[in-house]
Amino acid sequence: MADEAIPLARPVLGEEEERAVIDVLRSGQLSLGPRLEQFEQQFASRVGAPLASAVSSGTAGLHLALRAVGVQDGDEVVTSPFSFVASANASLYERARPVFADIDPVTLNLDPQAAADAVTSRTRALLPVHVFGYPADMQAFEALAGQNDVAIVEDACEALGARHADGAPVGGRGNPAVFGFYANKQLTTGEGGMVTFADPALKERIDSERNQGRAPDMGWLDHDRLGFNYRLSDIACGLGLAQLERLREMLAARARVAARYREALAGMEGLELPCADRAGNERGWFVFVVQLPRDVDRDQTVRELATAGIQSKPYLPAIHLMSFYRERFGHREGEFPICEDVAARSLALPFFPQMSEGQVGRVADGLSSALSRRGRAGALD
Ligand SMILES: Cc1ncc(COP(=O)(O)O)c(C=O)c1O
Repeated sequence: MADEAIPLARPVLGEEEERAVIDVLRSGQLSLGPRLEQFEQQFASRVGAPLASAVSSGTAGLHLALRAVGVQDGDEVVTSPFSFVASANASLYERARPVFADIDPVTLNLDPQAAADAVTSRTRALLPVHVFGYPADMQAFEALAGQNDVAIVEDACEALGARHADGAPVGGRGNPAVFGFYANKQLTTGEGGMVTFADPALKERIDSERNQGRAPDMGWLDHDRLGFNYRLSDIACGLGLAQLERLREMLAARARVAARYREALAGMEGLELPCADRAGNERGWFVFVVQLPRDVDRDQTVRELATAGIQSKPYLPAIHLMSFYRERFGHREGEFPICEDVAARSLALPFFPQMSEGQVGRVADGLSSALSRRGRAGALD
């Protein structure tokens, strides 16, 4: 019998989630009900933030957070080219320009020195991304923001469960920080997101703008500013509350799978693994992304793994080299060499909390045999 296929990601959903969703359905209040506030409060407390606003996606959260810190037409937002495209797109929604700076070759996060070099008189905000759940160097970005009097929005969409060296959870420093709850995330509501922050004025603005610009004390169909429909339904909030209950266990399981991968992949020549936690920072495990040796054909590796029933994906592509960004901003190869080198070699392997030792072993064996064909491009074709 052929081995069962191993997907890239798989959410952990059980009876608690089923019950939570059914309870909301039975309550008859499917949106703007009591689960919304409960989910916001419990999430804020989980990441040590004073306040939180639930939104319909991480992207919506980034958009509202950028608006809330004052980003507007003609501004520049310094950010990482090695991220999911939403972190750059969010600035474009406000006709601001995402200005990229290169990444650190070890953590793969925006390099604070490169970011400093990219700041101009038009910079309105810094948007570091805690990529693959590894905490960005927020002390350095906060210092840079202070020196230049610019705002910070943290893209924490991949970083639930991560901690900074001082023990503070990512998202709990008071800067607006945005989490995402798409189905592959550490916690999922199917689609969804959360913005955490400290300033009560931001709560008023984000809550209003996610709900078509309606102030909390205003009546039905009364709107005093431009807004959007970025609400998160109570069904999703109910699901989020059930997922929060099992978050500690899911994060621990992810960390165990990562440790198994480290053991199983150790010693594969030229293969680079996700950086180990450094200087007291703790990764919130989201994906397990390796960087293949430079002489390995990545597309062929993906095909070979697929033949063995193992899903894998090049992850992430460099944003500035995507056709839309090239055409719109004239970006070209060679601008951010570290990002481009990493993006050309990185491969996400299957990674989810319930992954068994046997499945990790199968992925390791599959990768090992693909790598052993190094230099023999086309061997499978
Ligand atoms: C780094 C990063 N930013 C932003 C997003 C956008 O989140 P969403 O898909 O919930 O809109 C994601 C999610 O995939 C992400 O990984």
